[in-house]
Amino acid sequence: MSVVRIPVELGERSYDVIVGRGVRSELASVIRDRAPKALRAVVVSSEALVSMPWAELETGLSTTVLTVPDGEAAKVATQVERLCTEFSRLELSRHDVIVSLGGGSVTDLAGFAAAVYLRGIAVVHVATSLVAQVDAAVGGKTGVNLATGKNLMGAFHQPLAVLCDLELLETLSPREIQDGRGEIVKCCLLTGMSLGDIDAATSDQLITMAISYKCSIVGADEREGGLRALLNYGHTLAHAIEALQLDGEDLDIRHGEAVAVGLAFAARLARRLGRLDNAGVQRHDDALAFFGLSGSLPAGLSAIRLLEAMGRDKKAHHNLTFVLAGENGYETVSDLNPEVVLSELVNFGGVA
Ligand SMILES: NC(=O)c1ccc[n+]([C@@H]2O[C@H](COP(=O)([O-])OP(=O)(O)OC[C@H]3O[C@@H](n4cnc5c(N)ncnc54)[C@H](O)[C@@H]3O)[C@@H](O)[C@H]2O)c1
Ligand SMILES: [Zn+2]
Repeated sequence: MSVVRIPVELGERSYDVIVGRGVRSELASVIRDRAPKALRAVVVSSEALVSMPWAELETGLSTTVLTVPDGEAAKVATQVERLCTEFSRLELSRHDVIVSLGGGSVTDLAGFAAAVYLRGIAVVHVATSLVAQVDAAVGGKTGVNLATGKNLMGAFHQPLAVLCDLELLETLSPREIQDGRGEIVKCCLLTGMSLGDIDAATSDQLITMAISYKCSIVGADEREGGLRALLNYGHTLAHAIEALQLDGEDLDIRHGEAVAVGLAFAARLARRLGRLDNAGVQRHDDALAFFGLSGSLPAGLSAIRLLEAMGRDKKAHHNLTFVLAGENGYETVSDLNPEVVLSELVNFGGVA
């Protein structure tokens, strides 16, 4: 597959997501084009990633590399303060540029530090994980976690560009790949791809399709006023499963895996409400199976606790809200009857 440039149309904040093998080599020219006055670059990456064979980036500028802890541990307010302090010690100006090199943890953290340092300086994301390429690095949502919950402190800050170098995914563990596939299958379903379409596409094409879909949604609804909420397909139950896990339930489930379960459930809930037929449910199950994802709940979770957690989902605005298939395509459906959702959870199986 050759290099694909997918525009995110946001007026003067428009940018391209550049997807393909080896596209990290475009970094210097992207910076030259989009930040012509930049004199310095700071690359923010994680301690685990800087030793990767692909980690040396050419920015075309005088460059400093700063490392942060690996994974979710990076996404804390103290790291934002630390990064901003380092930026100021390096005398980074408003014309200069931050480059994030990592998965979603790094792009979220570095993006947020770029959003707040000097009230906002430019950032380019070099997304290294599948989750970051198809989801986290695209769309301008940045932020860190608080002790009271994930992503509670953040800002919208669109990058100058996002580089999705598909070669980098070769060093990613199978589990991390599986995590990203949860979002890809969601995009396949939302765009109405048939199993035949999915089967005919290469893995690189499926990744590119998922990125294009997200770019088009972000271009139409930057701040999640409407359309962008569709990206939460499968996420109501997924967030509830993750909430129980955070609450000490002994699960080992990744976000994308939880989304897969949420997609299978959303299809059944839509059928229960007369919005989807059996063939539609089968289409969901086939797509999940194609990607090797399980659509079953981990055994033994309490249906009542899941229901309560779904009601508390911050994206659901304190009502039982799902993105559901229907006659008019996918849409957000609020104020669902808790008894119906509970009974469908029991039908879904696996719950205690
Ligand atoms: N801003 C958004 O819109 C958005 C959307 C989705 C997810 N997120 C956030 O993204 C984070 C999850 O992202 P993630 O799954 O990329 O997690 P991550 O950044 O923690 O990366 C997961 C692991 O993969 C490793 N890794 C990354 N790229 C690699 C590569 N090419 N080769 C080998 N190892 C590699 C990392 O070092 C890490 O250990 C969460 O914090 C989530 O909240 C944000
Ligand atoms: Zn998600």
